Amino acid sequence: MIDSKVDGLMVVGALSRSSSIDTSVPTHEVAAAVLAGTVVVVKNAFARDELRRLRAAIVAADLPFREPGFHESESWRNRREVYAGTELDILYDSSFLAVERPGDTIGPAARSTAERMAAYWRALTGDPHTFVAEPNRRALRCWAMQYPAGGGCFGWHQHKLEPTKIGLILALSEIGVDFRSGGSEFETPFGVVDATPYHDIGDVCLFRYDMRHRVAPVDPERQRRWDGSGRWTVLIQGDPRPLEPVTV
Ligand SMILES: [Fe+2]
Repeated sequence: MIDSKVDGLMVVGALSRSSSIDTSVPTHEVAAAVLAGTVVVVKNAFARDELRRLRAAIVAADLPFREPGFHESESWRNRREVYAGTELDILYDSSFLAVERPGDTIGPAARSTAERMAAYWRALTGDPHTFVAEPNRRALRCWAMQYPAGGGCFGWHQHKLEPTKIGLILALSEIGVDFRSGGSEFETPFGVVDATPYHDIGDVCLFRYDMRHRVAPVDPERQRRWDGSGRWTVLIQGDPRPLEPVTV
C-alpha cells in the first residue's frame, strides 16, 4: 500500500504487467475494500505510451455520432451537454469501443487494453463476463470518455450495483500535462473522496458501482476544445439489460 492517509481512499501499486493486474494487496482484499465503500487507485497498471497511442487513435478514428443505445456492431460516439438551470451539469463525448470487431475502425486498437481491464474485473468480481455475449450472459461494454478542457464534467449521479458491481476507470490523461484540474469524486461512507490527484495516466480507479460520484469540471477556465485535449478515461461496465427469454 502506498497511501492510506485519506479516509475512504487506498492507493496501491501494480506489481506486474501480465495479462491481468495484480497488486501487493491480494485481489480479494481489494474487492472487499471496494465493496465496503473504499475507493482504490491502482498505480501504474498500464504503460503510458500504450495509452497515449490509444488516445491518439481514438481521436483519429473520428467516430460517427449516434443516439445512445445498444449498437454493438461497430464503434460510435455520443455527445452529451446538459444544463441544470444555468449550470453546466454534463459535458462529455462517450465512445463505445467494439473491441471484438476485427474490421472496426478502433476496436482492435483498444482490444488488449480492454481485455486486461476485463481480466482484472473478473478477478475482482468473480463474474465470468467477457466482451462477447453468451446465451446465459450479456457482454461487457467498453467506453472511452472524453471530458474536454473548458468544463468537461458529469454531475453527481449513481448507477445500479448490478451487473457491474465494481467500476474500473483507467486514466488516459496526465495530470499537469494534458489537464490541470477536474476528475472523479466519490461520496464514500467515510466522506467525499477526490481521487483526482492520485489518478494519473496509467492508473486504474476502482469504486463500488452504486456509490454516488461525479467528474468535477476539467480546466473550466480554458476554452472548450474537442481536439483531444482535456481528460480521457476508459471504462468497462456490465450490460444492464435483462437476458432475452430463452425460446425452446
Ligand atoms: Fe458514472
